[in-house]
This record gives sequence, structure tokens and C-alpha cells, in this order.
Amino acid sequence: MSVLPLTIMTHPLPPEWTTSLNGRVRLVVGPADYAGIAPHLAENLEEAEGILCLLTDIIDSKVLSISPRLRVVSNMAVGVDNVDLAACTTRKIPVGNTPDVLTDATADMTMALLLSAARRLAEAAADARDGLWRLWAPAGWLGADLRGAALGVVGMGKIGKAVAERAQGFGLKVIYTDLQPMKGVQAEFVSFDRLLTQSDFITLHTPLNESTRGLIGESALRKMKPTAILVNAARGSIVQTNALVMALREHWIAAAALDVTDPEPLPTDNPLFDMPNCLIVPHIGSATRDTRRRMAEMACENLLAGLEGNKLPYCANPEVYQK
Ligand code: GLV
Repeated sequence: MSVLPLTIMTHPLPPEWTTSLNGRVRLVVGPADYAGIAPHLAENLEEAEGILCLLTDIIDSKVLSISPRLRVVSNMAVGVDNVDLAACTTRKIPVGNTPDVLTDATADMTMALLLSAARRLAEAAADARDGLWRLWAPAGWLGADLRGAALGVVGMGKIGKAVAERAQGFGLKVIYTDLQPMKGVQAEFVSFDRLLTQSDFITLHTPLNESTRGLIGESALRKMKPTAILVNAARGSIVQTNALVMALREHWIAAAALDVTDPEPLPTDNPLFDMPNCLIVPHIGSATRDTRRRMAEMACENLLAGLEGNKLPYCANPEVYQK
């Protein structure tokens, strides 16, 4: 009887999401509450042929160097900034991700954040709960109008486009910036600087890489309108946290709504948590029942394909297959 390939699953997933793995791999599963690859998993890397990981697990050349038998890395996320793609490609290890399936959920979350920040929902809900809702207040909890306002989309990929479509339904005028103008987009392409100065709302949808890390720092924040609202449902490190603290404290911008932070999780003593003009949720952009289940299923499909020597159906480094 042949021995099933050892696979490290860095964190437990609901068993009904991973039924395709039953009887096809030997799983070593990490604890739910350990950030990264737990020590007892690391001991198994020498033998592991597959890794099924989350976006919080760093798969770098150090991990690869102690994983001589590794044949596939399957990331349960669309973003693969936690994986050293170049190092995997050099080792001819395909890296799987989960594109498309989370586009709608993440775009919906972006709009939820935008609307919540525009209409000050977190503040108003807290005030209602705390007994500050005494009378209908003609000038109380006033927020920003959407119709006719400018939404600046930074990164017009699939999620950026899905946000733009939704935003147009609310009457927002969409402008965007990217490395180059995108085909089939009903929005004006502008420079990054123009987007910063002209937008009433700014939403980030770029991947995290060396050119986007820290993109929204002091200089960018100071260029935004004092009434601007910043939304980030992409990756926390695109925004410099300390600069955002200053920007919100000193009212360079009006508000921020964040699904992602740097670091993650954001320590509860971070000043952003005390600011009424900052809404923070715990990286739940893709967290709908169907989306997360499908992401797990895709991650399993990628893992099995890699272990069985087949091309990954969703591959983040397809160049690995070039002769
Ligand atoms: C979520 O943030 C993802 O990249 O899938």
C-alpha cells in the first residue's frame, strides 16, 4: 500500500469544506490560535509534500529550505503576498490561490465600510446604545452624501471593478489609478496624485508588493481632502498605520474604514481603536458562508492537483510550468 503524501494544514478548517482530501493525504493540522506555522508543524516540514496555508502564514525561503520534499503550496486566499513566489518558482513549486470567488464578497464589504464611514454608523450605534439618543436630532450624526461625490479606486483589478460597478449604482463618480488604463472600465483613469486630491472617498484594491507597501503614508494622506474617507479592504501594509493615526487625529482626512490593518490583528491599545472616525473590522472581506467554503474547496483542489503532479487549476506562479 502506498503511503499518502504528508500535508501540513496550518490551521483547522471545517471538515465539510475539505472532504475532497479524505483518504488522499495524511494531514498534520496546526492549532486555530497560533499565528503562522506552529512549532510542531515545522518539525514535519522535512517530510511534507504539500502545505495548505492561510494568508497569515509566511512561506519564505527559510520555510522552503527546511522542506526538501515540498511539491505544492496552496494558499487559501487570493493575495499571495505571504508567500515568496520567486523562491517557490525557482524551486519549481506551484503556488495555488483562490481568485474570483471572493470578488463579490469583498466588493460588498468595501461598500459596507464606505457606507458605514460615510454615515458614521459605528459612532451612531454606540451613541444610541449609550443613551445619547434623546430626541430626533436635526443636526445630529450628519454624514457624507454619496451621489455626485468622487470615489477614487486605487487598483482597478477584479475587486476594484466590482466596487466601481456598485459605487456607480449609488451615484458616485468613479475615478481610478493603476499601472495603466484598464480596458472596459467606465471610469476616468487619473494619476495617483490627482486621485488623492480629487476624491471624496478613496478605496484601495492593489495587491501588496514592493511598490504598494506603505503607499498611503504621510505624503499621500496630506494630499487628500480634509473631508476624505479612506477605505482599505486590500492589505493592511499598503497604509502606514502611524501616519493614519496622525491623519485622523489631526483631521487631515475625515475618517477611515479598515478591514485590514498593519499589523494584523491590530493590538487593542492601538490609538486607531479609540478614534470615533475610524472603523475597524477583523479582515472579514471574504467572510460569507459560501465564499469561505468555496475558497477552502479551491485550496483543496489546488493542493491535490499539486500532489498528484497535475497543473493547479488556480495558480499564482504559472511560469513554474514553463519548460
Ligand atoms: C483575502 O484577503 C484574500 O486575499 O483572499
